[in-house]
Amino acid sequence: MKLLIVGTGYVGTTTGLVFAEMGHQVTGLDVDTQKIQSLQAGNLHFYEPGLDELLRKHVKNETITFTDNIKKAIEMNDVIFICVGTPKEENGSADLSYVKNVAQDIGRYMNRSKVIVTKSTVPVGTAELVTEWIKTSQLQSVPFAVVSNPEFLREGSALADALKPDRIVIGSTSDTARRIMRELYDNFQCPIIETNPKASEMIKYAANSFLALKISFINELARLCDKLEININDVAQGMGLDHRIGPHFFRAGLGYGGSCFPKDVNALLHTAEATGSPLTILESVVQVNTEQPLYLLNKLKQALGGNLQEKTIAVLGLAFKANTDDTRESASIKIIEALINEQANVKVHDPVVKWSGSSAGCHQFKTVADTVSGTDAVMICTDWDEYRELDWSKLKPLVKQPYLFDGRNMVDKEHVAKMGFYYTGVANH
Ligand SMILES: NC(=O)c1ccc[n+]([C@@H]2O[C@H](COP(=O)([O-])OP(=O)(O)OC[C@H]3O[C@@H](n4cnc5c(N)ncnc54)[C@H](O)[C@@H]3O)[C@@H](O)[C@H]2O)c1
Repeated sequence: MKLLIVGTGYVGTTTGLVFAEMGHQVTGLDVDTQKIQSLQAGNLHFYEPGLDELLRKHVKNETITFTDNIKKAIEMNDVIFICVGTPKEENGSADLSYVKNVAQDIGRYMNRSKVIVTKSTVPVGTAELVTEWIKTSQLQSVPFAVVSNPEFLREGSALADALKPDRIVIGSTSDTARRIMRELYDNFQCPIIETNPKASEMIKYAANSFLALKISFINELARLCDKLEININDVAQGMGLDHRIGPHFFRAGLGYGGSCFPKDVNALLHTAEATGSPLTILESVVQVNTEQPLYLLNKLKQALGGNLQEKTIAVLGLAFKANTDDTRESASIKIIEALINEQANVKVHDPVVKWSGSSAGCHQFKTVADTVSGTDAVMICTDWDEYRELDWSKLKPLVKQPYLFDGRNMVDKEHVAKMGFYYTGVANH
């Protein structure tokens, strides 16, 4: 099939390449011409393991091409995937302006019948809005169908997730559109849930909110375990081996971040409030998550005498999790901002991300050794493998004070203690 992907970010680029791999002819469209030029030259404009190889392969074979010619791209393709961003509005709701712009472009340039698929994460009722936006922009009446087909991939393992999803959700009221979607996903070995657009839209928000809930549950429990001197990792393992609970998204740490969970939980809360059916459990999830990055930071502050002025702190990791360059809603950034507010000097390191903040109190270093050198405390904020494998015996002579705060419960605490560090994790007793 000839497919158009509108929005070539993390989701759009991955989706396009996976469909190209499945034998479809794909066009990627974006308003950002720099991204388009980079992708057409075979260079991925973001960090995602394994994706650059697939990009080079399909650009070379011409099974995927990239363009910023909106009119031509829409005219030439019959199935159009909307993969643009849906960031958080001030009031917590999802900003649908990018989706609306795309829908209006589609309406304006629609020359023959098309299937419009929303892959962006959008609130319940958006399929109806997209239908309306397309209709009111059409210059001539052309039939079309709108499908909700939410994406569940995770940054850092986007390719594997998109090639082998746990399930595919198709929400549509059109039999023809459902048939086309089934054909498109024919080679995928997973259950397909067919439902109406509203249920499909809700599945995505409910799934992300439930995962966020698991994270906040284990983090709040960790605070209790900390007081009782219980190792939260043992508790999480003991619980997670129960198949009804499962081990995933169940590690105590600095809380969830990234471009999805925070905004999606807030958007669902906004929907609940607007509908007059509050989700109080999710309100607590947000509260725990807002407090969590500061939980370990407060311990660090106490260890250094309650005042961080003139203290130098090493922060290891900027990305919101390992294997991505995404820093949106990263706990690490929140910790750095709090440290700067406390007038600490901050030295940061990340194997992939460049620090873009402008504060004179924060500087990035190329190596971990240079980052920790002369610092009063080291805090691990991102679970990069590189930090798991550090030789702490070589780092010990470099630090001013040997305090190590492990926000990811990822280093061997007995080993670092032997190397002379005072170790504190998140209830990692
Ligand atoms: N990133 C993830 O892990 C993930 C996972 C599942 C779902 N989602 C959802 O998928 C959607 C996209 O997320 P993302 O992380 O890929 O976003 P992104 O910011 O990486 O990419 C969005 C792209 O859309 C482009 N764009 C904006 N307006 C456009 C227009 N009018 N025409 C063409 N292109 C336009 C932007 O230039 C950008 O390149 C969001 O709704 C997100 O919630 C994201």
